[in-house]
Amino acid sequence: MIEKIIDGKKVSNEIKGNIKLETEIMLSQGKRKPGLALMIVGNNPASESYVTSKDKACKTLGFNSLILRLPSDVTENEVMDYIHNWNNDDTIDGILIQLPLPKQINENRVIEEINPEKDVDGFHPTSVGKLVIGLDCFVSCTPAGIIELIKAYKVETSGKHVVIVGRSNIVGKPILNLFYQKNIANSTVTIVHTGTKDMTEFTKQADILVVAIGVPNFIKAKDIKEGCVIIDVGINRVDANNEKGYKICGDVDFEDVLEKVSLITPVPGGVGPMTIAMLLSNTFKSYKKRLKLI
Ligand code: GUN
Repeated sequence: MIEKIIDGKKVSNEIKGNIKLETEIMLSQGKRKPGLALMIVGNNPASESYVTSKDKACKTLGFNSLILRLPSDVTENEVMDYIHNWNNDDTIDGILIQLPLPKQINENRVIEEINPEKDVDGFHPTSVGKLVIGLDCFVSCTPAGIIELIKAYKVETSGKHVVIVGRSNIVGKPILNLFYQKNIANSTVTIVHTGTKDMTEFTKQADILVVAIGVPNFIKAKDIKEGCVIIDVGINRVDANNEKGYKICGDVDFEDVLEKVSLITPVPGGVGPMTIAMLLSNTFKSYKKRLKLI
């Protein structure tokens, strides 16, 4: 059964290992370190854990990273001031504002304020527009990580039917825009969402099913086709009788579907580690661009 499980940790470690080596070469040539600025507003425990992991990963690779922690009642103008400073700071190659932001702050306005050349999250309208028309751009990290996993496991995508569950700006929409591109996956893509009448009618047609809906164990064996590949993007905290009082589970009922799939990403250890690897990859790409090395 083990060979059915996609090892996101292994693939992400390989990507990070390569970036670390390249960074060492840059530093040995007397160049500055790549720099990433992270902002977290408020005290959402999941966001705190993601930002801490991102910062740690940067430091392990030899990047400079900083975390700016702001209180939940910070104003939009204050957030904008920090972004302006980072936009103008030559030692910062990437800017990441951890989402979600508190209600008084307009997320779209904040994202638009980031210099697109430092938009390592790939959320800026400039990055999204470039993605849609197939230009080189920063691709948001989770979707980019999914494509890397698909490539690493040599999953055939050309002419296959990819069904995406969820239409978020962070996952569903960019994944849609990656899979139909001729030079990336060349797939036929369907996106289903809370407005879809009979979701199962579509999910059962999927050769590759990408699930990013944020509902624990939402997809069951009855919803899928025999032999499909499942990419589970969900990271849900559910109550558990352990030290932490919770455990992490995906949007797919892993135990229920395992018999029926040909490949599946586990949660944790599937897509999650890839998101961080792609953030590092985007930051390193920005660094090389800004030093005019690419
Ligand atoms: N919140 C959940 N996922 C992400 C992500 O990839 N980037 C940012 N900035 N916020 C998130």
